[in-house]
Amino acid sequence: AAAEKGGYPTFMDKEIAEQPAAVRQTLQGHFDGLRIVLDEQRLGEDELRTVDKVFVVACGSAFHSGLVAKYAIEHWTRLPVEVELASEFRYRDPVLDRDTLVVAVSQSGETADTLEAVRHARRQRARVLAVCNTNGSQIPRESDGVLYTHAGPEVGVASTKAFLAQVTANYLVGLALAQARGTKYPDEVAREFATLQEMPAAVEQTLELMDPVRELGREIGGSRAVLFLGRHVGYPVALEGALKLKELAYMHAEGFAAGELKHGPIALIEEGLPVVVVTPSPKSMPLLHAKLLSNIREIQARGARTIVISEEGDDTVAPFADVLVSLPRVPSLLQPLVATVPLQVLAAEIARSRGYDIDKPRNLAKSVTVE
Ligand code: G6P
Repeated sequence: AAAEKGGYPTFMDKEIAEQPAAVRQTLQGHFDGLRIVLDEQRLGEDELRTVDKVFVVACGSAFHSGLVAKYAIEHWTRLPVEVELASEFRYRDPVLDRDTLVVAVSQSGETADTLEAVRHARRQRARVLAVCNTNGSQIPRESDGVLYTHAGPEVGVASTKAFLAQVTANYLVGLALAQARGTKYPDEVAREFATLQEMPAAVEQTLELMDPVRELGREIGGSRAVLFLGRHVGYPVALEGALKLKELAYMHAEGFAAGELKHGPIALIEEGLPVVVVTPSPKSMPLLHAKLLSNIREIQARGARTIVISEEGDDTVAPFADVLVSLPRVPSLLQPLVATVPLQVLAAEIARSRGYDIDKPRNLAKSVTVE
């Protein structure tokens, strides 16, 4: 088993370190020099062209990857995108027809709720595209098309590299739709793809910056709770950070949209409470950045311990950050690929400091094949 972990203390540590490769391999084979290509030549461009609405259905971390996808797909395609928990989707009687594309995201391809959502969608004649990490698993088999993530096998129960691969694949789905619909010209698609190809290096750089995050994890291991705030694509990152902490450290953790702070969560702020804030780029999103900055000041003024995930060169947040984690600058929509990493590392380290088995958290299964 030690050899399988490749020198890392746990599979999760190894899988966190494999994330640059997971992103790189997921991009590989999905662009032919001219166009984004799905796998197995199912679900052609003609079928994608007529899509007028997108649903992303998934569970757990895969659901959070769908929340990220919404921002990119709507921006690139001008199609409305809804993101649904697979367990809620089919019981809600969603409005589906042959022009609806349902994107079913699942690492294992065997999650019962997601599979049932796929079956429901197909009965309503919607087209279904699976985003999946497991070749030949049930969800891609029952879908009209598939785009495989190539994260490699993930052993740690809490998803890390499979999540980054899902986020990456979902961007590719967005670009595939944009090229089919003509909302992006071929050279624009090629440029977006080239930008995605720079992301493995950005994730690599991010991994090199994680020592202070590990130290922080050991320091705050005794906290009762941790809150996570983010906006725009930073919001799903906050949700994913909170999920990691619940899964691994059995701590109360919540992710909030920072704009909601005044509508409730601020009442939770107390002396010493660690609050992780995912801030957008001051350069590309100055308005949102200013709003986040004022949130950070508010919570710091109320005694919280502010842990600020920011972009390198962002000096404005430093005075209000008890701990500042500066990450490489990437395009706004792609920020989750770097910003999720410190939250994974933080959760792993807090769990470790509490003496828990981070590969096999209590009560959880890698793949939930019952509803
Ligand atoms: C379980 C796992 C999670 C995962 C979720 C969805 O809850 O513990 O890590 O995100 O299932 O799994 P899937 O295989 O469908 O992506």
